[in-house]
Amino acid sequence: MLVDHDGREFLDALAGLWNVIIGHGREELAQAAQRQMSSLAYASGYTGSTSLPAIELGERLQQICYPAGEGRSPGWPGMGGFYFATGGGEAVDAAVKTARWWWKLHDRPEKTGVIGRRYGYHGTGMVAMSATGLPAYWPMFEPRLAGVEIAESPYPYRFDRQQHARGHDDPRSNGEIAADLIEETIEHIGADRIACVLAEPVQGAGGVIVPPDDYWPRLRAICSRHDVLLIADEIITGFGRTGPWFALERWGVEPDLVCFAKGITSGYVPLAGVGFRQEIAEAIRSAEGRTTWMHAATYSGHPVACAVANANLAIIEREGLREQAAERGSMLLKQLATLSTLSHVGEVRGLGLMAAVELVANKETREEFPATEKIGPRVHAATQARGMFSRLRGDVYNLAPCYPVETPQLERMVEILGESIHEVTGA
Ligand SMILES: Cc1ncc(COP(=O)(O)O)c(C=O)c1O
Repeated sequence: MLVDHDGREFLDALAGLWNVIIGHGREELAQAAQRQMSSLAYASGYTGSTSLPAIELGERLQQICYPAGEGRSPGWPGMGGFYFATGGGEAVDAAVKTARWWWKLHDRPEKTGVIGRRYGYHGTGMVAMSATGLPAYWPMFEPRLAGVEIAESPYPYRFDRQQHARGHDDPRSNGEIAADLIEETIEHIGADRIACVLAEPVQGAGGVIVPPDDYWPRLRAICSRHDVLLIADEIITGFGRTGPWFALERWGVEPDLVCFAKGITSGYVPLAGVGFRQEIAEAIRSAEGRTTWMHAATYSGHPVACAVANANLAIIEREGLREQAAERGSMLLKQLATLSTLSHVGEVRGLGLMAAVELVANKETREEFPATEKIGPRVHAATQARGMFSRLRGDVYNLAPCYPVETPQLERMVEILGESIHEVTGA
């Protein structure tokens, strides 16, 4: 719950910005920060120095972030190291730079290009903005970075099979076609000029777009086939939002690099980072001279942030919050499904504890409302007037509450959203 300065209460239906995953008001995290500040408030994280909380966090992550072992792809070596930054966009920047660095290290300096996807969101920095597939973020800051391409999204509700399939008898599923569209982009540019594909396992800010099950295994195979590094942007999906610790686990896929932020500290202090698969981590450690991985910031591995992250991850484990996220998520989806009977609810979708309701002018044709009608913003205002807070992409209303959200709170969220849609669309 959020309380404004007039004492009005709001359900925090997006857990801040998808990040306050264990919920607000956790004294334990405040105490972890206090303890750390009292003993060592700051230590450099540059090569040659670090702090105990950063080491502990790296070790914890190695246990939970695509660890080697049972259930993994044959030969998967696990993540071999982590770099800590302060925000998600900064982590994306570090990951893309690392992809370029990796190919230069292997005498393939032309491999610098980046492929993002439509509806993807990756942050505000120049690389992250350029790879963001939501054009509203671009106009006043263009030109975007050269060499960053935007490929199609697998968006099941809006995937245009007629446009993308090879005729009526194309045997491929929509998920396979969507993955192949990325391969086509790689081939069009030339694999020798592409460093990485940057993609969210479930597109979040773009409207909780859950890909078909056959999408990720195919995309993984495409990246491997073309020597293109796969960067999973798990800044929303990391730390159990979709159930498993990291979302690609569901599809039996491991990324070469993984970006995380938000939930690692539940937003109590800023922290983000990148995980590197074993060979990349080892190469970073052993590179020297001109090939040194020359990338670090004043606040890399900030001890207070890492101490809070350790306490936060311990709470998630201790309280079984990932399991709760999965369970509350299916409860939320089931309840949201009751809104499908409304005349303008085109689709209700989600995975784990992230969900969206897409409003349309016409359910049969899936035609969108004209932007000038501002249906989404009006629904948003109506939900706020009823005591709920979240965010939208156009006419898609997103929900991603904290993992320990209570059943009556979930029920009230759905009720508020239903009433608000009814009020605005009159149906
Ligand atoms: C998937 C994803 N990537 C990157 C970012 C950028 O993170 P930050 O705002 O911490 O820079 C966000 C933020 O919402 C995000 O949702």
